[in-house]
Amino acid sequence: MTLLTYLRRKLGLTGTKLGCAEGGCGACTVMLSKYQPHLSKVLHHSVNGCLAPLCSLHHCAVTTVEGIGSVAGKLHPVQERIAKSHGSQCGFCTPGIVMSLYALLRNNPTPRMADIEEAFQGNLCRCTGYRPILEGYKTFTKVRPHNHTLSILRMSKDHRLPLSSSTSVLPAPLYNPADFLPLDPTQEIIFPPELMVDTLTHQHTRGFRGERVLWLQPASLDQLLELKTQYPNAKMVVGNTEVGIEMKFKNLLYPVILAPGYIPELNTIQHTDEGIVFGASCSLTLLGDVLKAAVGKLPLYQTEVFNAVLEQLRWFAGLQIRNVAAIGGNIMTASPISDLNPVFMAAGCKLTLMSKGKSLLLSLQPGLSYRKTILTPEEVLLCVLIPYTKKHFAAYKQSPRREDDISIVTSGMSVTFAEGSTVVKHLALSYGGMAATTVMAKNTASRLLGKQWGEELLQDACSSLAEEMTLHPSAPGGMVTYRRTLTLSLFYKFYLTVQQKLASERIWGNAPEWKPKHLCPTARLQNGQKEEDVVGRPMMHLSALKQATGEAVYCDDIPLYENELYLCLITSTKAHATIQSIDTAEAESMPGVVTCVFAKDIPGSNMTGPIVYDETVLADDTVSLCVCVCVLADTQAHAQRAAKAVRITYQELQPVIITIQDAITHQSFFQPVRTIQRGDLDQGFTQADHILEGEMHMGGQEHFYLETNVTVAVPKGEDGEMELFVSTQSATKTQSLVAKALGVPASRVVIRVKRMGGGFGGKESRSTTLSTVVAVAAQKLKRPVRCMLDRDEDMLVTGGRHPFYGRYKVGFMKSGKVVALEVTYYSNAGNSMDLSLSIMERALFHMENSYSIANIRGRGYVCKTHLPSNTAFRGFGGPQGMLIAESWMSDVALSLGLPAEQVRRLNMYIQGERTPYSQILDHITLDRCWDQCLEISSFTQRRAGIETYNRDHRWTKRGLSVVPTKFGISFTAAGALAHIYTDGSVLLTHGGTEMGQGLNTKMVQVASRTLGIPSSKIHITETSTNTVPNTSPTAASASSDLNGAAVHNACEILLHRLEPYKTKNPKGCWEDWVSTCQSYTVLFLIGWYHYLGYDFETNTGRPFNYFSYGVACSEVEIDCLTGSHKNIHTSIVIDVGNSLNPALDIGQVEGGFMQGVGLYTLEELKYSPEGYLFTRGPGMYKIPAFGDIPTDLTVSLLRDAPNDKAIFSSKAIGEPPLFLAASVFFAIKDAIIAARKESGLSGPFRLDSPATPERIRNACEDRFTKLCPPAEPGTFTPWAVVV
Ligand SMILES: Cc1cc2nc3c(=O)[nH]c(=O)nc-3n(C[C@H](O)[C@H](O)[C@H](O)COP(=O)(O)OP(=O)(O)OC[C@H]3O[C@@H](n4cnc5c(N)ncnc54)[C@H](O)[C@@H]3O)c2cc1C
Ligand code: FES
Ligand code: FES
Repeated sequence: MTLLTYLRRKLGLTGTKLGCAEGGCGACTVMLSKYQPHLSKVLHHSVNGCLAPLCSLHHCAVTTVEGIGSVAGKLHPVQERIAKSHGSQCGFCTPGIVMSLYALLRNNPTPRMADIEEAFQGNLCRCTGYRPILEGYKTFTKVRPHNHTLSILRMSKDHRLPLSSSTSVLPAPLYNPADFLPLDPTQEIIFPPELMVDTLTHQHTRGFRGERVLWLQPASLDQLLELKTQYPNAKMVVGNTEVGIEMKFKNLLYPVILAPGYIPELNTIQHTDEGIVFGASCSLTLLGDVLKAAVGKLPLYQTEVFNAVLEQLRWFAGLQIRNVAAIGGNIMTASPISDLNPVFMAAGCKLTLMSKGKSLLLSLQPGLSYRKTILTPEEVLLCVLIPYTKKHFAAYKQSPRREDDISIVTSGMSVTFAEGSTVVKHLALSYGGMAATTVMAKNTASRLLGKQWGEELLQDACSSLAEEMTLHPSAPGGMVTYRRTLTLSLFYKFYLTVQQKLASERIWGNAPEWKPKHLCPTARLQNGQKEEDVVGRPMMHLSALKQATGEAVYCDDIPLYENELYLCLITSTKAHATIQSIDTAEAESMPGVVTCVFAKDIPGSNMTGPIVYDETVLADDTVSLCVCVCVLADTQAHAQRAAKAVRITYQELQPVIITIQDAITHQSFFQPVRTIQRGDLDQGFTQADHILEGEMHMGGQEHFYLETNVTVAVPKGEDGEMELFVSTQSATKTQSLVAKALGVPASRVVIRVKRMGGGFGGKESRSTTLSTVVAVAAQKLKRPVRCMLDRDEDMLVTGGRHPFYGRYKVGFMKSGKVVALEVTYYSNAGNSMDLSLSIMERALFHMENSYSIANIRGRGYVCKTHLPSNTAFRGFGGPQGMLIAESWMSDVALSLGLPAEQVRRLNMYIQGERTPYSQILDHITLDRCWDQCLEISSFTQRRAGIETYNRDHRWTKRGLSVVPTKFGISFTAAGALAHIYTDGSVLLTHGGTEMGQGLNTKMVQVASRTLGIPSSKIHITETSTNTVPNTSPTAASASSDLNGAAVHNACEILLHRLEPYKTKNPKGCWEDWVSTCQSYTVLFLIGWYHYLGYDFETNTGRPFNYFSYGVACSEVEIDCLTGSHKNIHTSIVIDVGNSLNPALDIGQVEGGFMQGVGLYTLEELKYSPEGYLFTRGPGMYKIPAFGDIPTDLTVSLLRDAPNDKAIFSSKAIGEPPLFLAASVFFAIKDAIIAARKESGLSGPFRLDSPATPERIRNACEDRFTKLCPPAEPGTFTPWAVVV
């Protein structure tokens, strides 16, 4: 059992969250404290509860988020500051982040910013964009935080603020650090004295026997070796960061586990003449600390290897993993992408192996085969010697994300020269990621012996490495050309580094350095208003404090019902097949299993879907990648084990359609095919000076809400009534689809949503699949049923953002003015229609982004494939449509040799122009956003600086881009219900759901202003279908507009009803009036509908109520040799009308922007040609981490831009900012253009999204890429396909 399961399920401490179960998200972070007898002190470490075996915690103290503070009691400053600095949105990541920082402060109460960044390497947040968390926590460092009184808002009339032209600019902090509780380290909870025992000298082997595993913890080396003889197949476990993953995800079972964590010989560190010897159980954190100390004391020439190990450790996993993972665990896993093994091999590290009565010293060698070492079953690794000096030594790691990511290619390199010369005497080049084991480039090394370190050697080395470091085009992991090129590029970096050291003269094109910069992002907001009016104020998210203390209740935090069962889904493993048989006999005989549920158990209809019923709840006959059957058991562990024992046999069918290209080949499209057209295309192309054609593919995106999909269904026992607690954006849709499957009227089903740990569109329609299955099971068994999907299940079954492929033909004038555009979009919808047609429609509505084009035609094909159905995701097709628009815009500029910003500005809409769907643009603020963005970002100076930089640097290049957005806001339906109680308190309910965006906070602000009472009198408990029925999903950014209007109207009606009582008692107060009033409740429903009646056939009507505008400017730097990039600067100016709450709005801008950064530069879903999803968790699928935010980030809300179409002149904010991250994509493209110029290349080129290191490197063509040409397409089966 893991510590996390024990905390949540046995102790009911649900503050610690489950986000991934694989050490990749940090939601489960707790602090572990251990007494260290040899140091006579207690050490505190952050660790991942999801990987820590409970048995390993003997004599440890565990501190969880509940243990350090509470809202009702006393908050800990760490909890208070993240909440007050607006660093908690959905709050699901917050307890983990709180505990990471808490553990740091327990060891170091005045950390540096670098320490804080290091502490967060293992924590992810999908909502905030990280900036507010760092800014809030910066207050713990000695450096004071930035002044948060940034840019300012002039309030409009409806804010009832006296406008004075000279004083319209008033400083307004988002929060006041002076209000923060001070940190007093003397007040921390003490380490339990009873745990201060000498753990290293206890005498006996401890044993714990579980249901399937015997855990033995020997106290001495002799006992360990004896046990290893007795149980040669026993698995050694130290940090459990490998074994834990194998058992959970690879279904491996180790019946006997030996835990050598407390054996003194495996924990000692010895400084010898040759180097430092580390016991195999020493943690990586300890390894780093000891090496750092040695580097500080010893001369540089002795510590090159140590520095290289430290460099690898800096990017090795997150701190929570490094705190427990052992050096021996890394070596003995023998992973081909181990970060340490290549360094240890190139450095000639020595291992001491032991078995009973035998000891063996040997150099670390490549493994025998994939993850197979030379160790015999009886042997253990005792220690490893890391030697002093190698004259020149370096290590490199290239991964998709810089922080906490596994390597694509990793390397250790060492060279020694003959005395007094630069003639190679010894050379060792080791690579990880190029074969099933770590490999040494032996041929290249021997070929270079005796050669002079110079250009000739470099050329020899490169051609030799290109020959030696080959990969089959179908090699697992893919990226074959890139990986091969990296072997050369990394050697070139090493070559340059050595050159630099050899000659002190400047070498043109220094080896690029990737030292992390300390982030000091800032935010700007606008403000200035009177005290009692909360609208427009940066009011803290109402649940933020509870989220920071772990008291906020999410769906899976609901205590277990006494007779509750757990459900586990079994999905089809074939993309296109018929089911021949489902054998559940073995599964049903396993411990704890109650039954299985099949399609035939569905009492109502098995057909489901949010708009058209074209999918099954449980597969009946023909399957694509969908849910087939489910297992119910008493616990999650039992259900999941049984699920693995269900056997399904299939008859495979053809064709298997996975990619958009497959769908085009087979003409597999959902109908209708949408077209929007305006002007005369033929005439436009005739008139154009130039015509160009191009294409682009844009990958999909996983929502990666930190809280996966979860439902608890409770049958009520009469009349078919059922209550469901669901994490969904769409209570009404869940209600109707559950009722449909159960065969009962909707009135019997109540859906309750307290809060979600993020949604982003992923819980709009796809969450209903799980809720329906859980409800069917609960109905069948007449017992409560719960299921929270594991991260891998969630990523597999719930779909994500649609991948898009676009083809375009653009006609343009010499000036850059675009006069004709024909664009065709194809989206990969997956196996059902879901919301794909509406998503394609929005892509078409945004096909021209912010540009006025007289003659235009866009056509959209929704491709039907066998992948799980894709669905809504923040932006809803807009980010795909607009990215392809910016691609042709960039091509136009490139082909004319004009600055892209000039061409963009020239084509931008002006007031009164019409969109392709004939909507007139009024109140357009694009030009103002653009001008302000250029000014704030110092665009001209920045551009000049970049030109100089690029002239001076060959192997790193900088790029700059400014990109506008225009995002249409359309309205759906909403409602609100307000109760006023006789004590004056108000209970508010509305149709929207709280998923972190602060909707409830804004609604309380609206009600507070409307009723004229303090916000503290207003409370929102949850969203439920029995309070506000028939609402639309919380989506499309319009929830504040809609629900705000409904709340406003409901409150106005109540005020109207109170009027007579106020008139009767004009001197009375709120409580006096309401206590005498006879009518306390009002239900107000508001009905607005999608697209306001736009007709595609006639191109008439009005799809959008209004538009949100914004502009972003970004600067990046790319490493042309590895394809890495760093985000240097971003300025965003965005029009949110008169912001209801600038803190929440800035949070949405930053969070949306960072999700866009993930979409366009990082996040890549990888599928096999058969449709198998490889990227099923944070280990393989990388969302932006703390280190990915721009070093310098400025967000400004446009001043004086009231919106007359929404509540209190505000504007929607959820989706529009996401696309602004395209500025980063095009800044990268700009930098690639500079790199390509060095190789004599110019003009348009194709860069697909996301701009990953692989794509960037491959686009920066040079002499190294030429040595590693890609294999001829069609001659091999790739490992992964572009879907
Ligand atoms: C989220 C996450 C991120 C990661 N990131 C990285 C990364 O960036 N780079 C990287 O290289 N790895 C990474 N890993 C892999 C892993 O963390 C490391 O390999 C780690 O060093 C393993 O140590 P451990 O103590 O946890 O091993 P365990 O899981 O306890 O054991 C691993 C293996 O080593 C064997 N073993 C342990 N000690 C001995 C011994 N004394 N004698 C013989 N056999 C022994 C065990 O039997 C087992 O087979 C990551 C893992 C996770 C979960
Ligand atoms: S749940 Fe433990 S790291 Fe994600
Ligand atoms: S607030 Fe961090 S994941 Fe939602």
